[in-house]
Amino acid sequence: MNKQEMEQLFMSKYEPSGAELRVFNAPGRVNLIGEHIDYNGGYVFPAALEFGTSLAIRKRQDGKVFFASTNLPFTTEMALEELGREKTGEWTDYPIGVAVELKKMGIPLTSGYDLLFHGEIPNGSGLSSSASLEVVTAFALLSMEGKEMDKVEIARLSQRVENQYVGVNSGIMDQFAVANGAQNHAILLMCDTLEYKLVPFRTGEYKLVISNTKKRRGLVDSKYNERRSECDAALEMLQKRVPELNYLAHLKPEQLEQWKGDFDNEVLYKRARHVVEENARVLQSVEALSGDDLKAFGELMNASHDSLRDLYEVSCLELDVMVEEARKIEGTLGARMTGAGFGGCTVSLVHEASVDRFVAEVGKAYQERTRLEGEFYVCGVGDGVHEMKGEK
Ligand code: GLA
Repeated sequence: MNKQEMEQLFMSKYEPSGAELRVFNAPGRVNLIGEHIDYNGGYVFPAALEFGTSLAIRKRQDGKVFFASTNLPFTTEMALEELGREKTGEWTDYPIGVAVELKKMGIPLTSGYDLLFHGEIPNGSGLSSSASLEVVTAFALLSMEGKEMDKVEIARLSQRVENQYVGVNSGIMDQFAVANGAQNHAILLMCDTLEYKLVPFRTGEYKLVISNTKKRRGLVDSKYNERRSECDAALEMLQKRVPELNYLAHLKPEQLEQWKGDFDNEVLYKRARHVVEENARVLQSVEALSGDDLKAFGELMNASHDSLRDLYEVSCLELDVMVEEARKIEGTLGARMTGAGFGGCTVSLVHEASVDRFVAEVGKAYQERTRLEGEFYVCGVGDGVHEMKGEK
């Protein structure tokens, strides 16, 4: 949706006023490799998508804030001093949480606002619709209030909204990618220091295809927290051997092999092995891409999925079927689940000449095997959060 279309939708929703109307956009994200590594302090390699969440926003004089969406029925209005008084479990908890967090940081809203959101990311698809909503709200409110903030800080404050206000214990990757993405680049992010590098994402004749399993991610929160605790337990155990180890991902695969015998719990060993090997795969992927070796990158994507399925155990039947069918298509270099797991999407690297066949054949086989209708997005890498100007 472009700026003019957003403005028109806004005008059909809200009464005319003389105040300036501005439009902002934040993308969704896909993680290319480095899964379940952010909260273990290692490397991740996400990229911003070309679709996301737009927000049209205008000041009001009466100290009230109105929230509406083009695609979700729930709307709400409240006075500035009521923001955050009570959570509803609705989508508006995310933007309200942002206003609450800004206030905590000493940046209370000084005006009322009319807000209209338009979301293009399917909810629960694992493409970070919530991070996109948080980051676009933070960026827009700060801009409207005339406050400057670094995008790394915007990512951090949005993560606090997710962790503390909404109550989901996620890492920093999603908000970071949504805030700092850049067109045609992937982000190599070191999650303990938040240092990052934009890496040109040149895929030549190959396209990224995102396949949505449409499987509801029912267990995702509880299993996500369980994996985090397992990693903490593995770290605590290893710290007896390596006291200076602060994060699991800082351990080298060969060091883990050395201490393998110390694990009396096979599950913790499997979790740790995924983390240290996946972390190494991220750096190998960056190297492969720098040398335009897409075949090697595809193999690393495959190894990542297999490890998430067998060692970290966050895949599910639907993700595995989608990946298996993707790999059968000639012209697919690699396929893996992306995001937290237990449903959501896979990402595949597919030759442009094979994309139509991929969508038709994988879609058909997936439906036959799971009785679910998948959805496919052939997608380029877009920009991080920004104000929409002109046609864009
Ligand atoms: C979710 C979380 C991220 C990250 C991924 C797994 O998307 O929000 O912080 O942990 O899962 O890599």
